[in-house]
Amino acid sequence: MKTSIVVASYSGTTRGIAEQIQKTCGGEIIDVKSRDLLSRFVTFMARHSPGMNVTDGGTVPERIDVTGSSLVVIGTPVWGGKPVPAIRKAIAGLHGCEGKPVVIFATCGEKPGSTLEVLVKDLAAKGMTVAGQFSLNKKAIDDGTQVTALIAKIQETGNSP
Ligand SMILES: Cc1cc2nc3c(=O)[nH]c(=O)nc-3n(C[C@H](O)[C@H](O)[C@H](O)COP(=O)(O)O)c2cc1C
Repeated sequence: MKTSIVVASYSGTTRGIAEQIQKTCGGEIIDVKSRDLLSRFVTFMARHSPGMNVTDGGTVPERIDVTGSSLVVIGTPVWGGKPVPAIRKAIAGLHGCEGKPVVIFATCGEKPGSTLEVLVKDLAAKGMTVAGQFSLNKKAIDDGTQVTALIAKIQETGNSP
């Protein structure tokens, strides 16, 4: 079973969760970032803030081929109660995803707003089935329980026929 982990992250939190998933479940991390004004501003701010783990990888995703994967994981930070623009572009650019299961997660300071609902709609339009959805706020990330539940769901989905 191959897993594609598509992730956007500007200050490292969402990427950190993706790395925990990869460590336990394997799979390939695909970093995505877009170059719209807000995304560039947040990257700039994160780069100049102490303690932020800024990742340099990622491009504007035109096409992400997941034909060879049986499971897709999507991770996004929450911006203004929504997924970041890069992850929505990445979903639009998914190829070979129809009929495949997807597990989604959002990281946020406190509240995810409509982030998960927006992702569920985008993924349904691509013919994907959302097998699990998780919102991880700072408190939940610190205490680790929701991250454990997320990883368990990915393992369960990956192992089901
Ligand atoms: C522009 C911007 C908007 C944000 N909006 C929200 C929000 O609506 N709700 C929330 O709980 N956190 C919000 N946050 C906090 C981020 O969602 C949170 O820090 C996230 O884990 C960052 O992920 P990253 O480190 O992978 O980039 C916002 C952060 C930024 C930079």
